[in-house]
Amino acid sequence: MASMASSGMNVPSPSIAVIGCGSLGTAIVRGLMNEQKAKVRPSKICAAVSSQSSANTLHDTFEDSPIEVLVYQGGNTNAARDCDVSILACPPHSMSNVLGEKGMPDALKGKILISVLAGVQTSSILKTIYPAGVPSDDERCWVFRALPNLAVSTGASATAVEVPASETPAAKIGLVDLIMQQLGGIVHVPALLMDAGTVLCGSAPAWVALFVDGLVDGAVAAGVPRTKANTMAAQMLASTAALLKEDQRPSALRESICAMPGCTTQGNLILEEGGVRGVSAKAMKTAIEAASGLG
Ligand SMILES: NC(=O)c1ccc[n+]([C@@H]2O[C@H](COP(=O)([O-])OP(=O)(O)OC[C@H]3O[C@@H](n4cnc5c(N)ncnc54)[C@H](OP(=O)(O)O)[C@@H]3O)[C@@H](O)[C@H]2O)c1
Repeated sequence: MASMASSGMNVPSPSIAVIGCGSLGTAIVRGLMNEQKAKVRPSKICAAVSSQSSANTLHDTFEDSPIEVLVYQGGNTNAARDCDVSILACPPHSMSNVLGEKGMPDALKGKILISVLAGVQTSSILKTIYPAGVPSDDERCWVFRALPNLAVSTGASATAVEVPASETPAAKIGLVDLIMQQLGGIVHVPALLMDAGTVLCGSAPAWVALFVDGLVDGAVAAGVPRTKANTMAAQMLASTAALLKEDQRPSALRESICAMPGCTTQGNLILEEGGVRGVSAKAMKTAIEAASGLG
């Protein structure tokens, strides 16, 4: 890893490979370049994909980026070998092809591998890289699991990070936390709860968008131009997030806004009649069960 002092900033500068640099991977690369966060500043980024067309897109996207992005097509092992840290962001079903490549265990030796794959357990990843069993500390790589969302690109992801195994070196844990904090806010959860973290951090933004779409439709029906309604809705979400972060309890926030028998309370009655809370909890439960079957 490049020295901290060499960049002139007091932040680590690991080289980072994004293996499977599609929609989430590209957002991660953007987030790693975010100067505002300054938790890490990668010395270089290696982005690996399988097709020539995706490689061309990455070349065009990151041509003039502030951090060098080297694009690898069909060169996952080389990308891992050339970097201190690898972030695995391919589709879950491609995991065994990617990590089962000849030379991958050697390329990852002593390094960090962070999987952002939904539904794939750390134990399956280790079994794929080391079918004969995990080797000694000097020979192995350290596998971490994190489930972010697409807001990694602006450093605003909500990310569930699996509590690492007790034998994991503290320095590796510290670096992974910094990398994930560069991409957003992190919450550590045990392995058993990672599917729940996946759905809450990764899937739920789609459902919030669905709910907000309905609110916007209602505002449009009352005469508000759609673009203005969308802008107000986005700002309203940011305000709600800020209030929840302060107070941490959604029920307390709802009660404080519904304190008077006014318009908010009237609307709240309609939402309760529609069973919004029960339906939301049921959607979470069903999606968590589905997430556990992805790997
Ligand atoms: N999107 C999200 O919001 C989100 C959130 C949390 C977690 N995730 C997880 O992130 C992963 C990627 O999701 P995504 O939405 O970014 O998918 P995506 O847009 O389809 O990207 C997948 C990428 O993997 C590459 N790839 C496929 N097979 C490969 C191989 N054998 N070697 C190297 N690269 C390969 C693809 O390259 P080609 O295009 O060249 O085939 C593509 O760049 C998934 O495991 C998903 O569970 C996604």
